[in-house]
Amino acid sequence: MKKKLALLLVTVMAVSSLVACGNTAADAPAAAPAEEETEAPAEEAPAEEEAPAEEVAPAEDGALISVGFAQVGHESDWRAANTKNYQDTFSAENGYELSFVDCDNDHNVQIETVRGFIQQEVDYICLAPIQSAGWDTVLQEAQDAGIPVLIVDRAVDAADTLYTTALGCDMVFEGEAAGNWLAEYLNGEDANILVIEGSVGASATLGRTEGFNNIVEKNSNWKVLDSQSGDFTQAGGQEVMESFIKSYKDFNVVVCQNDNEAYGAMDAMDAAGITYGVDGDVIIISFDATHDGLQYTLDGKITCNVECNPLQAGFAEEVIKKLEAGETVDKWTLVEDQAFVAPGIESQYAVTMSQEVLDGRAY
Ligand code: AHR
Repeated sequence: MKKKLALLLVTVMAVSSLVACGNTAADAPAAAPAEEETEAPAEEAPAEEEAPAEEVAPAEDGALISVGFAQVGHESDWRAANTKNYQDTFSAENGYELSFVDCDNDHNVQIETVRGFIQQEVDYICLAPIQSAGWDTVLQEAQDAGIPVLIVDRAVDAADTLYTTALGCDMVFEGEAAGNWLAEYLNGEDANILVIEGSVGASATLGRTEGFNNIVEKNSNWKVLDSQSGDFTQAGGQEVMESFIKSYKDFNVVVCQNDNEAYGAMDAMDAAGITYGVDGDVIIISFDATHDGLQYTLDGKITCNVECNPLQAGFAEEVIKKLEAGETVDKWTLVEDQAFVAPGIESQYAVTMSQEVLDGRAY
């Protein structure tokens, strides 16, 4: 269905909210230890404020609601699960016409994709930004065209008046959760740390790096030896780890900013005869906690795995339904995360892995 022409004036009030995600062990404690550590980044979680007027008209009875989704790409298992979740949720059966574009990690392609959705006059745009910078112009164009934009998964650094709502995980919290767990686990021991970062300029990378570094700063006997981008891919993780192995002999912690990078790093360490995991010389910390990542955690290869829940389409649909009904929507919706640790480890910051937790993981 093309963008509706009748324009209703709906003032959207901005209110932060917490929304618990599914697919976690029912009895698992949330990893968020203290309120100050769970705050969303400033640009994502503004104090209560009034968003600009949105011009939204409810869909005609029986007509499909058109949604354009500018997806990051297909770099990781997490991304595949996130894409499937959007495709399943925004199906014709559920009343939607989804225009899905895989932007293949190319910022310019993603900008032009959003521009294409504006020309198509879709009813709503979901944008999972590859990088956080560089969105002001096209977001302004969408606003001028009266098309609500939902920033999903990652954040943009544009003013929040330029989009309708944002939803996703708190990446700074994830980085801090990893650091807090490491401090607890090492209990005063030295740490020589290598970091395999995600894609350059992505809020997932920036947030996890910032959060982890916040904890590094509190531990004077920790040293980050090097930090390089593995682009959130298995091949990238392997390549960076191979080059780290050539340059550094004395390290005991490898932080991989997603599971696929961790698989690549493990391949590189296997090839070099370096042992890792609860019985090895190197502690691996990962992010995402996808099914396979948690299998490695259950096996004791990845010692700590911090969740980033990819099942976020339901939150986007809830926003769209509210806008269709002429209701106000929250400016920011947090999808909560928790951390998991290998069997035998007890932590105030993480859930100890078990077969039951793994069996409950849908992605
Ligand atoms: O933005 C979420 C991150 O992007 C996930 O950690 C990673 O796997 C993905 O590619």
